[in-house]
Amino acid sequence: MPQITIHDAAGAVSVRKVPRGTLLLHALDGGVEAPCGGHGRCGKCRVTVQGALSSPDPRETSLLGAAALRRGVRLACLTTVEGDCTVTLGADRAVQVIRSDGTMPAFAPEPIFEKYGAAVDIGTTTLAARLYDRSGALLAQAAAPNPQRTYGADVITRTEKSLAGERESLARCIRDGIDSLLRQMSAQAGIPPEAVDTVVLTGNTAMLYLLTARDVDCLSHAPFLADELFGRYAEPEELRLSAAPKARLYLPRCISAFVGADITSALVSSQICTRDESALLADIGTNGELALWHKGRLLCCSTAAGPVFEGATISQGMQAGPGAIHRVAYENGKISCRTIESAPAAGICGSGLIDAAAVFLRAGIIDETGAFTDEEDAYPLTPEVSLTQKDIRMLQLAKSAICAGMLTLLEAGGLSAEGPARLVIAGGFGSFLDLHSAACIGLYPPTLESRARAIGNAALAGASMMLLRGQYRQQAAALAEQAETVDLSASPVFRENYVECMGFETP
Ligand code: FES
Repeated sequence: MPQITIHDAAGAVSVRKVPRGTLLLHALDGGVEAPCGGHGRCGKCRVTVQGALSSPDPRETSLLGAAALRRGVRLACLTTVEGDCTVTLGADRAVQVIRSDGTMPAFAPEPIFEKYGAAVDIGTTTLAARLYDRSGALLAQAAAPNPQRTYGADVITRTEKSLAGERESLARCIRDGIDSLLRQMSAQAGIPPEAVDTVVLTGNTAMLYLLTARDVDCLSHAPFLADELFGRYAEPEELRLSAAPKARLYLPRCISAFVGADITSALVSSQICTRDESALLADIGTNGELALWHKGRLLCCSTAAGPVFEGATISQGMQAGPGAIHRVAYENGKISCRTIESAPAAGICGSGLIDAAAVFLRAGIIDETGAFTDEEDAYPLTPEVSLTQKDIRMLQLAKSAICAGMLTLLEAGGLSAEGPARLVIAGGFGSFLDLHSAACIGLYPPTLESRARAIGNAALAGASMMLLRGQYRQQAAALAEQAETVDLSASPVFRENYVECMGFETP
């Protein structure tokens, strides 16, 4: 059997044997992201290889170029192992900066666990977790990329994989990821992982289906009716974690097929529904999940932004890791970029992309329609990283989906774009976002800029609150019960707003 020697991003070396003909993506077993699900479309599963491998596929030639192929760069989803080889995983793309913060109001703990409890947010892109003791003290926290990313960057690709017979492996993969976070946190806290007796696991509806290995068929086609909305403990035969096999696992209530327990959890931590004033909550990620609280009514919707803000559909896009351009500024007629950890520029992440578009508008590099004014196809931010016209178009589609979703929801609630007293932006991505740049490009209605606030990982904070005080589980369930879902796919108002939001607001 051929032997593969793998040099990972941290410099560790491992060796494994796989049958001849194994796809490199499978041979690397989670070591490489596959945003397009391994269909050879996104060009992101790059690795550097030497040794006996299949000849380059024409799609590799077009996505990578001849020079990169000559340097040994290949796409793991299009390359098979034909004999012994050495693979180097991209140091620039392997480590992701994940925010596991999220604000919680002050409250007296009345935990639903005996000794130790954990809260886990299963994001489409990232996992984040916290460990608490009975006094409510935070003992440890941990975060990692969602290991299911090797099956595809977005929910739809993973749903397709689950329907195509990979249901069990998707479930195993995410459970392994959670186990590993529990083990890391237990080690940090100096307790055995089995001492964790209760875990609250939140996430969007599809993530909870994939976790519990439920049939996702009902989520994959119209009328998109979830046959399970959770709001209960998992049955032992449905879900067990090997790190804490005896732990009770609570899955908070989802609202609909597209508005999940992550939003119910975010509603709990933001506490927007306990105030008189109206507020719009937006969790901006691969899916934009939105909720509007107005005069005792709770309206929700979900809008598909796609994985643009994770960099997946941007030519030199990457997740927010070292070397990602995350800030772009324009001063004295000059563009300057900052990268995460000041590492050499390796690509651009979502917050950098939004800043860059705002700067391009201000500098007249793009016009209000998003077109490059000098008719070039790309504009260099640094010698290594450029944005193309197609990248700007992808951003326009994504930001338009989010902003049009907000406007449609406001309209459904009887409010104008100036209406809500607060705009609360949840999600790890929201914490990196420059709220001014986001307003400039129209990611949200610019009229709300002075009322916008980012609250970090609100889903994780909400799951922690449900763990630390049983009453918050009831609050989450009651809010989910009360929520009215606005179906954007059937809304002519949304379609109209979507077209109108496609251009850029002039800053
Ligand atoms: S090109 Fe390989 S995962 Fe997308």
